[in-house]
Amino acid sequence: MKRELVIVLDFGGQYNQLVARRVRECNVYCEIYSYKTDIEQIKAMNPKGIILTGGPNSCYEEGAATYSKELFELGIPVLGLCYGAQLMQHLLGGKVEKANVREYGKSHLTVDNSSPLFTNVEKESICWMSHTDYISKIAPDFKIVATTPDCPVAAYENKYKNLYGIQFHPEVLHTQEGKKMLSNFVLNVCRCQADWKMDAFVEEQIKAIREKVGNGRVLCALSGGVDSSVAAVLLSKAIGNQLTCVFVDHGLLRKNEGDEVEAVFGPNGNYELNFIRVNAQQRYYEKLKGVTEPEQKRKIIGEEFIRVFEEEAKKIGAVDFLVQGTIYPDVVESGLGGESAVIKSHHNVGGLPDHVDFKEIIEPLRDLFKDEVRKVGLELDIPEYLVFRQPFPGPGLGIRIIGEVTEEKVRIVQDADAIYREEIADADLDRSIGQYFAALTNMRSVGVMGDERTYDYAVALRAVNTIDFMTAEAAQIPYDVLNKVMSRIINEVRGVNRVFYDITSKPPGTIEFE
Ligand code: XMP
Repeated sequence: MKRELVIVLDFGGQYNQLVARRVRECNVYCEIYSYKTDIEQIKAMNPKGIILTGGPNSCYEEGAATYSKELFELGIPVLGLCYGAQLMQHLLGGKVEKANVREYGKSHLTVDNSSPLFTNVEKESICWMSHTDYISKIAPDFKIVATTPDCPVAAYENKYKNLYGIQFHPEVLHTQEGKKMLSNFVLNVCRCQADWKMDAFVEEQIKAIREKVGNGRVLCALSGGVDSSVAAVLLSKAIGNQLTCVFVDHGLLRKNEGDEVEAVFGPNGNYELNFIRVNAQQRYYEKLKGVTEPEQKRKIIGEEFIRVFEEEAKKIGAVDFLVQGTIYPDVVESGLGGESAVIKSHHNVGGLPDHVDFKEIIEPLRDLFKDEVRKVGLELDIPEYLVFRQPFPGPGLGIRIIGEVTEEKVRIVQDADAIYREEIADADLDRSIGQYFAALTNMRSVGVMGDERTYDYAVALRAVNTIDFMTAEAAQIPYDVLNKVMSRIINEVRGVNRVFYDITSKPPGTIEFE
């Protein structure tokens, strides 16, 4: 599909995906490439603009990530951010040096509004800095267009060559006017038309899927999560009953989730597709008996999923295509785009089924960030509670029950979690917290209920705020909400006599308990 493109050249910065997301929020399609990408490849893509990201190096050091100066002579607008801004200066005749103090955090920014980067930007605002080096001398033909008290060159430009640099991070929310600055770059400097819209994407995809599939048959593993649900509906709109969705209920889903998925996608649901629900709960509980080690549990759950799926696929016979709900961050994090180290290994052990007979994979969401997948979901009229569902790990409650998984423990954690979610929604916090759930600790302790001594389990509540799930902070849930959750769980869930709230951030903790 032909669309205008802005490229993010990644020098290993931690915010690379965020930069691309911000560009896309301006309705401009954007992809991330490693700084090692050949210049001929870049020319062939014919981007409307190029953004160089931050990175961990010092550009004047031997072996530091760099690029050919030719990049600045292509006639394509370039914006350097942080390391990218320093590198452009370093290559074009400016000077970059180590600063006396590392500037980290919020700074007071003053901009020159005559720069196209700062059209309609407040003259004074707060920006987010994170750097040890600074630009001490600007290259010939460049002009300084922003400063902070500690940073003499907070932004610069060469209007005639369309080269710009920003020392701070416009992509993070702490930079108050950052969004406007990036939008100024892509719309005013690069002159993008802003044609990347999700309604058009849906139409294009449906057409493309129809063309590709013809009258072939398509198989999809539907988990009920956002990505697979959106992928399935997109396929259903395109090819209707040529699609079969297999939904494996592994008995480790949230309370009533299996029935909810069936209600939406099943025979009495809203979509034209063949829905197969496999109730494999007992099979999973059997396999997990006596297993306590978290990775072992993941492996069993992942492998069992593949086996169940293969068995169902065998009943259906050969298909032409298999649908995968891969999204753009999966592509970037698996090392295919960008440069940043793979921090989060892919948790879902198991991979693709070996014994399913298909010719090709279809990944209709491969180009999209999560927020875009949600927009597509809304375009497709998928119920909001499915579209805005929080992330739920593939191994499900299997990794929210510390130690051995049993049917009884699944019941406890399901009930506790349902109460927790109900109260969070009641307090209107459900859209503002990144991820929240109840887990079952492996601890039993003494309590007293009525006149009886109890010896029951402790439930742990978790709620985190996060941008990328790689770092996170515990959410500050009002005490009265927590108190109500505690009281309801202890009163309503048999087998629980204590409730903890986990305030650990990530790192050093993780979001899940296993
Ligand atoms: P952690 O616990 O690693 O979680 O801080 C980060 C994010 O990843 C999710 N997660 C998983 N997702 N399979 C998944 O599909 C897994 O095994 C798994 N483990 C963690 C977690 O829910 C959070 O969103």
